[in-house]
Amino acid sequence: MPLIEWAQAKINLSLRILGRRADGYHQLETLMQTLRFADRLILEERPSGIELCCDDVRLSLGPDNLVHQAASLLTAAFPGHGVRISLQKRIPWQAGLGGGSSDAAATLRGLNRLWRLGLSLTQLIGLAAQLGSDVPFFVVGGLAVARGRGEQIIPLNVHLDFAVALLVPPFGLATADVYRAWRPVDQPTVIWSTLQQALADRDQRQILNSLHNDLEQPAFALRPELATVKHNLVLGGFPVLLSGSGSCLFVLLLTDADARRLHDLVPAGYQLITTRFSPLLTEMSAGEDWPDTEI
Ligand code: C5P
Repeated sequence: MPLIEWAQAKINLSLRILGRRADGYHQLETLMQTLRFADRLILEERPSGIELCCDDVRLSLGPDNLVHQAASLLTAAFPGHGVRISLQKRIPWQAGLGGGSSDAAATLRGLNRLWRLGLSLTQLIGLAAQLGSDVPFFVVGGLAVARGRGEQIIPLNVHLDFAVALLVPPFGLATADVYRAWRPVDQPTVIWSTLQQALADRDQRQILNSLHNDLEQPAFALRPELATVKHNLVLGGFPVLLSGSGSCLFVLLLTDADARRLHDLVPAGYQLITTRFSPLLTEMSAGEDWPDTEI
């Protein structure tokens, strides 16, 4: 029987860079949330080998693919297994939505089930950290704080239910380029716990004041049009922030009227995806059909 794993997108509600590290990475404190918008992986057992196929022909299917790397990590530790993975991409690339990292985490979760490896959450997180800074978060999903280079996860046992609009530009941004363009600035006074409280209270003004991303300035320096788009949305009264290293901007939709009003403000060439906050989706919780995202 093939297995389905959902690889959800994320947004960063808050991202602070605390400094550059000796290993070239940046020390982070970020508040992340998974969304009801996902890629889908179908995993089928094979006697041996890793076979990967994808509906997006632009994606490399070789060893540089994070799904392939995740499967290789497990076959190295647990020889004698094989798999065919069909990856169905929906999450845009280089958007700061964590698509590749989420695919890798979904592969670890899926193979743990398919091959009945019995790996614990802690073991999966350890493996995930070898694949990329964001991958451990996607093993857990929901609302969580990530520290270190992003691999130290503190899950927050809070289920916030917000509608969110993703504004995907017609260009992507390479994560490494955005981090490289970052310069130390005075630390903002806002901390993630203030934002978490504001979200729980649905305190619109406090939410607006608390959304923060230290990667906005470098991303806006690389792509000044993003600053213009954000500026126009803020003038319209929308809480808007760059997700991760971009290029996607997201807008928290606090009322139904907001969602209707936003449609008229989407710049030409930008894709609008309307979705919701969501804890980790499983085959049990979400079934096999695509989550009800409006694109
Ligand atoms: O860990 P990952 O391979 O996903 O990171 C991609 C790139 O993003 C790194 O090569 C690095 O340039 C940058 N990065 C960083 N600090 C972090 C996470 C990522 O500088 N905490």
